[in-house]
Amino acid sequence: MSKPASPNSHRLINARLAIAASRVSEYQSLENGFVDIANGVISAVGDMSNLPEISDENTIQVIDCKGRLTTPGLIDCHTHLVYGGERQREFEQRLTGLSYEAIARSGGGIKSTVAATRKTSVDVLAQTAAERLDCLLAEGVTTVEIKSGYGLDTQTELKMLRAARKIEKMRAIDVKTSFLGAHALPDEYAGRSDDYIDHVCSHMLPAVAAEGLADAVDGFCETIAFSCDQMERVFKAAALQGLPVKLHAEQLSNLGGAALAARYGAMSVDHIEYLDQKGVDAMATAGTVATLLPGAFYYLNESQKPPVQALRDAGVPIAVATDHNPGSSPLLSILATMNMSCVLFGLTPQEALLGVTANAAKALGLEDRGVIAVGNTADLVIWQAKAAVDLVYSLGKNPCHTVLKDGEIVLTKGEN
Ligand code: NIG
Ligand code: FE
Repeated sequence: MSKPASPNSHRLINARLAIAASRVSEYQSLENGFVDIANGVISAVGDMSNLPEISDENTIQVIDCKGRLTTPGLIDCHTHLVYGGERQREFEQRLTGLSYEAIARSGGGIKSTVAATRKTSVDVLAQTAAERLDCLLAEGVTTVEIKSGYGLDTQTELKMLRAARKIEKMRAIDVKTSFLGAHALPDEYAGRSDDYIDHVCSHMLPAVAAEGLADAVDGFCETIAFSCDQMERVFKAAALQGLPVKLHAEQLSNLGGAALAARYGAMSVDHIEYLDQKGVDAMATAGTVATLLPGAFYYLNESQKPPVQALRDAGVPIAVATDHNPGSSPLLSILATMNMSCVLFGLTPQEALLGVTANAAKALGLEDRGVIAVGNTADLVIWQAKAAVDLVYSLGKNPCHTVLKDGEIVLTKGEN
């Protein structure tokens, strides 16, 4: 006798499966495949010619994909979705020629969001972030990373991370959090950046870890933020708490942050427009993911592009993320981000898809998703599309047809 199937048993048939094995060169697809799901997990994957018989038709909901592309749920592995206020004025200032750095140095930029975030309640932070997240959910995002970093004091950093955790209860999404206390120097510490880093390491980070609010520790290594020496102190403090690290590095200049992060086993180094060969090699050795953020590159009208070919040659996995934030990347479309990674940085559509699935999972240290494989979480997207290129070709088109999160249908455009 067969076991009664669980309530969320589904079978996807006639699916064009983008299996999306990790690493650029290992993109795999299956023209006419099936996926079985039980208890929120993928229980079988294969070719339709090997479709196992269903013992009890009534217990399994069959979804006919009718040849549609089916991918893992998309993963946005770098966002700052939780914040107070907006920065439209700064956008206008940049259009008149003022630079991101100049705005930051004159007290705007990250600091203005810090002031607004400190004044906003945890409930409002969670609610506004969830509303922004809805744009990503509509495009098949099933896992998102959210950073703190607009508090820059213990209470507000904790508040941001609590808001991020809260979102998991408000939407069908898994949230991974990163503590980004070392994002910018708060006014209270003007001229005393080493003291602030001490405070981050000895007070803020232990408080965040004590509440289990962070899955990783991040920082901003840049001339307008913190030096490599300062970031190294943060990484050491993270190690004491048993937390993995990642870094915003080589965005506006090359300080060697990527190589430093790689030495500390960073899961990812993000932005990296100014990354040099030494940094590429260090990341390859450490197995660190290169997360490209074309939204920030686009909004800041930058010209220095990340060394994509060197990353490929060295076998560094490439992820792609929105970097949604109110300043350098108010972008709320993962599909547009994928398009930009192709048009601006020269990724292939398959690389862009790997960048928001297998390699994005790796950037978050998640081994149970990002690839359609037995035992993985059944986060899947069925697209009104045939191939990866159809997801990135048209800006503004959303071919998302059906989303399954943990084996449950959470969004669908219906039968057709
Ligand atoms: O990832 N690089 C640093 N942090 C953000 C920008 C934050 C902001 O401008 O508010 C980023 O681009
Ligand atoms: Fe960022």
